[in-house]
Amino acid sequence: MDINVTASELKILNFVSDVAKNTGYKVYLIGGFVRDKILGRETKDMDFVVLGDAIEFAENLSAVAGNPKVSFFKNFGTSQLILNDIDLEFVGARKESYTPESRNPHVIPGTLHDDQLRRDFTINALSISLNESDFGKLIDPFGGIKDLNNKIIVTPTDSGKTFSDDPLRMIRAIRFANQLEFKIEENTFRAIAENAARIDIISRERISEELNKILMCSKPSIGFDLLYKSGLLERFFPQMTALAGAEFIDGKGHKDNFYHTLQVVDNISKTTNDIWLRWAAVLHDIAKPATKKFESGQGWTFHGHEVLGGRMVPKIFAQLKLPQNDKMRFVKKLVELHLRPISLSKEEITDSAIRRLLFDAGDDLDSLMLLCEADITSKNKQKVKKYLENFELVRQRCREVEEKDHIRNWQPPLTGEMIMQAANLPPGRTVGILKNHIREAILDGEIENSYEAAFELLKVKAKELGIEVVKH
Ligand code: CTP
Repeated sequence: MDINVTASELKILNFVSDVAKNTGYKVYLIGGFVRDKILGRETKDMDFVVLGDAIEFAENLSAVAGNPKVSFFKNFGTSQLILNDIDLEFVGARKESYTPESRNPHVIPGTLHDDQLRRDFTINALSISLNESDFGKLIDPFGGIKDLNNKIIVTPTDSGKTFSDDPLRMIRAIRFANQLEFKIEENTFRAIAENAARIDIISRERISEELNKILMCSKPSIGFDLLYKSGLLERFFPQMTALAGAEFIDGKGHKDNFYHTLQVVDNISKTTNDIWLRWAAVLHDIAKPATKKFESGQGWTFHGHEVLGGRMVPKIFAQLKLPQNDKMRFVKKLVELHLRPISLSKEEITDSAIRRLLFDAGDDLDSLMLLCEADITSKNKQKVKKYLENFELVRQRCREVEEKDHIRNWQPPLTGEMIMQAANLPPGRTVGILKNHIREAILDGEIENSYEAAFELLKVKAKELGIEVVKH
């Protein structure tokens, strides 16, 4: 074998090879598995090219393996089954041609060489023969090994054709460049820029899948910057490209919020693998362009960008077909709160301000603190150092106040139900007023966080509103 595989992988490859021999097919291992084995990366599924009908071949294989389920897509001539926990995918060798409006290929059977030529990049066109005469031999007609060694992403044939055949490959090129820390060859990158508008025919789900892979790289700024420079990002995420650039009035400029955002994303990627926290970093300043003002005496301001930014999150998640669930609400909340800890670190910190932060952030306080720390990106080292120190102070105070007052998962001692019972009230606005009044008083430290104190205050406030509290 020209690549190193584990004993259990070899067992599967031998098995596929035996079935191929007995049924008269020629089969080759191809694509990501071969690439990643050579790079020494972790591998997942195995992709195979079959000369002939891949669905029939997978059915033969399944029959010999004890009939595991074969899934297939007739239109694409592909089939898939799982053996020993490894996902095996088979495709009939083909020449492909695509119609300009659609992603659905018009498939014509072809040779192994045809099939390698229609692949996205030379490093993904490497294949290993599983046939008896040359089992284990690497077949590399387009210099994939050379490109792996030189860390180059390049298409095996005319780049314009490769990308226009399947425009998602343009983002894949950038994703691989980011994941593998490879460079995209000059002509290949030029073709991406030229064909950027073709990305419009790709579904947002597939785009976001790639975007999420970029975001999970150790330095996502590389991928986002390439998406920006190629013109791709503008096509599906214009709110992010709107962050780019710095305007100057009276010699005063503001920072380039696109590159600031990328710095924050890189920073947070050093401290978390939580993709939603990374999304919060991407979106934390998203409303800066919409709130930007030049005020005489003050310079550039972005008042309320955190509130408007929070409001933009559901729309952007919908636009990118990201989930509309708790994950989205988490990102929204973090964007809304992202200035709070920093603003606290600039002033005298009162217990009540800390209690409010604990109450508003709740279980997401640690994530919020990571985001805020990542947001400190000044070029001035002294400033960064000072901010980080102040920040540690906020963290410490949060710990102290939390220990004392247990606010993080706190529910006020009187529920709406209890208030309705005690004041003999139907559900409605008045109950909300009474409940908020009590909550605010506790957060402000005006009364103790206890049932008795809350009840006493309820009596006083209810009386003010002309309501009698009847039960205790
Ligand atoms: N491929 C392609 N064009 C695409 C997608 C895939 O040419 N748009 C080919 C490549 O040869 C690729 C193989 O199909 O190696 C398998 O695709 P996939 O599993 O999506 O990617 P991998 O290369 O295996 O990489 P990863 O698992 O990291 O996505």
